Amino acid sequence: MSNEDFYDLLHQSRILVVDDDEDMCNLVKKFFESEGYPNVEMEKNGTEAVRKITAAVADKNPYSLVMLDLRLQEGMSGRDVYETIAANLDVPIIVVSAVSERDSIIEALKSGRVEEYVVKPFDLEVLFLKCERIISRRLYSKHMQQSNRRNQMLFLNILQVMAKVLEAKDPYTKFHSEKVAKYSRQIAKRAGYNERQLELIQIAGILHDFGKIGIKESVLNKPGSLTKFEYEAVKRHPLIASAILEPIEELRVIIRDIRHHHEWYNGEGYPDGLEAENIPMGARILCVADSFDAMTSSRSYHEPMSEDAARDELIRCKGMQFDPELVDMFIDVLDENRKRRERIIRLREELS
Ligand SMILES: [Fe+2]
Repeated sequence: MSNEDFYDLLHQSRILVVDDDEDMCNLVKKFFESEGYPNVEMEKNGTEAVRKITAAVADKNPYSLVMLDLRLQEGMSGRDVYETIAANLDVPIIVVSAVSERDSIIEALKSGRVEEYVVKPFDLEVLFLKCERIISRRLYSKHMQQSNRRNQMLFLNILQVMAKVLEAKDPYTKFHSEKVAKYSRQIAKRAGYNERQLELIQIAGILHDFGKIGIKESVLNKPGSLTKFEYEAVKRHPLIASAILEPIEELRVIIRDIRHHHEWYNGEGYPDGLEAENIPMGARILCVADSFDAMTSSRSYHEPMSEDAARDELIRCKGMQFDPELVDMFIDVLDENRKRRERIIRLREELS
């Protein structure tokens, strides 16, 4: 956003002056208008002010600032207004009060519910500068948050492209990330994850083997078994992934899942030898999904196993490699997937 755009937005800010002194309100409104702020509204009733502020938030056109007299004659008191707004809405408040109400100002400031205060009679320019400082600070911080979010999304897209790059480097893992993401989401749904958590576990599935980007192709694609040295190199991939992804704030929650997706339920996995519930739940989910897809896919070092044989292997390793409850959930998921596939085949046959 350019400086000009920022100042345009700043001057479009809506300001509500809540005061029963009509002359004073008009004076403030005129001064703000002369400084390029045409959207100044006035309200003398405290209850009505809360209604307006709430409606503005609901209409997604909130006030950027509320200037509130602490001694209102009509409706809610000034104190009730700032308590109600601050408890429910994120709208900055500047309180206005007479010198004689010093205690009320101190109480308001101590409550942490108001951002600033001015004492009547006030200098209009000082009031204006205080208001503008609050509004511009808020606007700038909102702009920075949006910009950070856009950057995060861009970075996420880049990571997905890089996951594809990994697939090109290790052709045996083609579609592996997508399948692990899909299975992980299905297990997590059964385990009661909410929509946001499902999104994250899906991203973890896409990125779980991302650290293999740091392993030599000759090792990744080696037919037959690896030497001890090569195996130790491969075992570093969860650590490489967590180091690469660590700067992304949004991914903090799943970096632990990615780091620990090769831990075993009995503590014999890597990289940290965590055991049972000490392994993050997402990592235990990834482990089941990843192992199943690895067993049923063609790799440089083995032919694909049948789905039934892989299911038996998951069940056999319950409590050793895998969380027993998550294996049970995944078996249910596989049953459902199988039924869905059979329904589609029947439907196709009926239609052909
Ligand atoms: Fe892995």
